[in-house]
Amino acid sequence: MPAYAVIGAQWGDEGKGKIIDFLAENAAVIARYSGGNNAGHTVINDAGTFKLHLVPSGICWPHAMNVIGNGVVVDPEVLLKEIGENNLDPTRLAVSDRAHLIMPYHVVLDNLEEARRGNAAIGTTGRGVGPAYVDKVAREGLRVGELLNPEALASRLTEIVSFKNEIITKIYGGDPVDLNDVIALTNKWATELSEYIRPVENLVGDALDNDEKVIVEGAQGALLDMDHGTYPFVTSSNPTVGGTLTGLGMGPRSYGGVAGVFKAYCTRVGAGPFPTEIHGEQGDKIREQAGEFGTTTGRARRIGWFDGVAGRYSARVNGFDAMIITKLDILDGWDEIKICVAYEIDGERTDQFPVDAAKLARVKPIYETIPGWTESTRAITEPEQLNDGARAYIKRLEEVVGVPTKILSTGPRREETLVLEDFLA
Ligand code: IMP
Repeated sequence: MPAYAVIGAQWGDEGKGKIIDFLAENAAVIARYSGGNNAGHTVINDAGTFKLHLVPSGICWPHAMNVIGNGVVVDPEVLLKEIGENNLDPTRLAVSDRAHLIMPYHVVLDNLEEARRGNAAIGTTGRGVGPAYVDKVAREGLRVGELLNPEALASRLTEIVSFKNEIITKIYGGDPVDLNDVIALTNKWATELSEYIRPVENLVGDALDNDEKVIVEGAQGALLDMDHGTYPFVTSSNPTVGGTLTGLGMGPRSYGGVAGVFKAYCTRVGAGPFPTEIHGEQGDKIREQAGEFGTTTGRARRIGWFDGVAGRYSARVNGFDAMIITKLDILDGWDEIKICVAYEIDGERTDQFPVDAAKLARVKPIYETIPGWTESTRAITEPEQLNDGARAYIKRLEEVVGVPTKILSTGPRREETLVLEDFLA
């Protein structure tokens, strides 16, 4: 009964979508467990380029069932758009009846709250994700399954929208949302989504019982995790491995492997401490070369050297048994490459990752500099094609993080992938 988790090991945007599309050839189910349409996964293969925010990255394989788990927050407008664009029918996509809905007032509140935070803004994606999770925890959320009971839903909405409007208008001075518009929207969602709404635990559990492979698809990254990330500069869910169990309703013994997807360098979008950030020209050069602009918001991503301290921490809190390293080719042609191996905090050296954001903001990275390589790694697919410099870099990352590498991504396309060891074995 093997499940294989593919988890973002940094601050998101590690290239999980490409890797999942690659692995999904050999899986029966691809299941997302957390986040919402704050995510942006890019998949490029012979069928085209797919920019996905909500549906799992297995959709290009007709044999695969794609599951949106209960831990996800779902904006049905986004879901319906992705269903339409990708011709997905209920034999290929299911959404948990227990996933929570992102409602129009969540989007309004996300943006009003960010404006209120002013200089302390988190830099959210503005998609209503945080407020939807707040309502879930406050037990005021609406679940996808409630769409199927319109009368009861309308009654709950009457109360909820009235209270949300008090907050929107009286605290923030914003424009209220219209109850009738919201009810009409939920009726439309119910009609268009009803066939996709299912209790998905059985889809995942039955596949595992039948010895079929399930890929558990991460969104965001471990360092944006609500508990283990750089709080408060985090997302409102648990992208780490623990979130997979609650977000899908499966047990820990299902796992055959847990991989951390690491970019060969680091990026971060939005605010928050980023010890290895590269400012100025050098960062700009990587950003342009690698196209480091958000898939969801188009924002320029901050660029940094590989942070081994954060990487080791990420491996610890997720129990990674494999590293998947992406965007290796971006470092081709660099004279030298830095790896952060420890931090100096208040004059003391440490190899521990301080999760406290204020402390993390004070750390000075201690770097090891290793020689770059001139040969191209772009699109290589065989271990023998890996030049000595790139090989030495990967080896050093493995030592620093303490986890072996199983897959290298050498370009954005599905086939631009080098398998060192079968992750789904
Ligand atoms: P939220 O998830 O929209 O509430 O945003 C909270 C923080 O997480 C912000 O810094 C966002 O930029 C970041 N974030 C959320 N989703 C992603 C993602 O998919 N990739 C990278 N950063 C993300």
